[in-house]
Amino acid sequence: MPPRPSSPPRRAAGKPAPEAGVPAAGKATGKATGPVFGGAAAARAHGRFITFEGGEGAGKSTQLRRLAEKLAERGVDVVTTREPGGSPGAEIIRHVLLSGAAKPFGSFAEAALFAAARADHLAVTIRPALERGAWVICDRFADSTRAYQGAAGNLDPALLDALEAATVGDTRPDLTLLLDIPAEEGLARAAARSGTGADRFEREGLTFHRQLRDAFLAIAAREPARCVVIDGRDEPDVVTKAIWQAVSKRLPLPRARRRSSRA
Ligand SMILES: Nc1ncnc2c1ncn2[C@@H]1O[C@H](COP(=O)(O)OP(=O)(O)O)[C@@H](O)[C@H]1O
Ligand SMILES: [Mg+2]
Repeated sequence: MPPRPSSPPRRAAGKPAPEAGVPAAGKATGKATGPVFGGAAAARAHGRFITFEGGEGAGKSTQLRRLAEKLAERGVDVVTTREPGGSPGAEIIRHVLLSGAAKPFGSFAEAALFAAARADHLAVTIRPALERGAWVICDRFADSTRAYQGAAGNLDPALLDALEAATVGDTRPDLTLLLDIPAEEGLARAAARSGTGADRFEREGLTFHRQLRDAFLAIAAREPARCVVIDGRDEPDVVTKAIWQAVSKRLPLPRARRRSSRA
């Protein structure tokens, strides 16, 4: 399923977006005009794009918050966001997808809706943030589509590749953190998590979730330059440390801020 960070895109420094689904830098969805991947080259020149991937209950949302806090402490301009969703228009599509309303139309229709949501999210939230030099951390992204609609949803990979090329273009993540956990453990965590009931994807059976795990691991094995597999079974602090090591090794970090006063 898609993520459920408790909030739509927001500045990590504790400055929530003015209203749900409206990123601080974003405008109304209808503004997302022009070439779908226009501006990507400029975006790549400045900000950093990190995605969290993995199955249900792997710890993505928990660890995304922690990473955003640590980066903000370093003085990084951080934007946290999620998929499906992350812009006003995409949040509407999120509801259609996660409620299960689109399920009767089949995997292709769902993949097309994910693509539409992603195009808007990129145009309205992600690319503008990268262009101003922010680090964008996204809870799920294109790998989830490959895993959920591809491997587990039985859609032709060539079709998914075409959709991905048309939506993502050059705005590929600099780093993808794959939190890996056995499907049973992740689902048990997700079930114990407080909040709303299971969504359309969480309601799928164990076989589906096992396929997802394999699909995510296969993506990471194919793209080791972009993906780092993190053991999601560890204690939260251990996971946080592994993530921080991966981020600092792969992406140059600004120096830590000096404390202005001494104890
Ligand atoms: N490393 C961990 N060990 C045990 N429980 C965890 C760990 N990370 C997260 N959790 C708990 O598991 C549940 C799912 O975590 P969450 O971050 O929402 O996962 P995801 O976003 O990947 O679905 C939450 O209740 C969270 O507090
Ligand atoms: Mg989550």
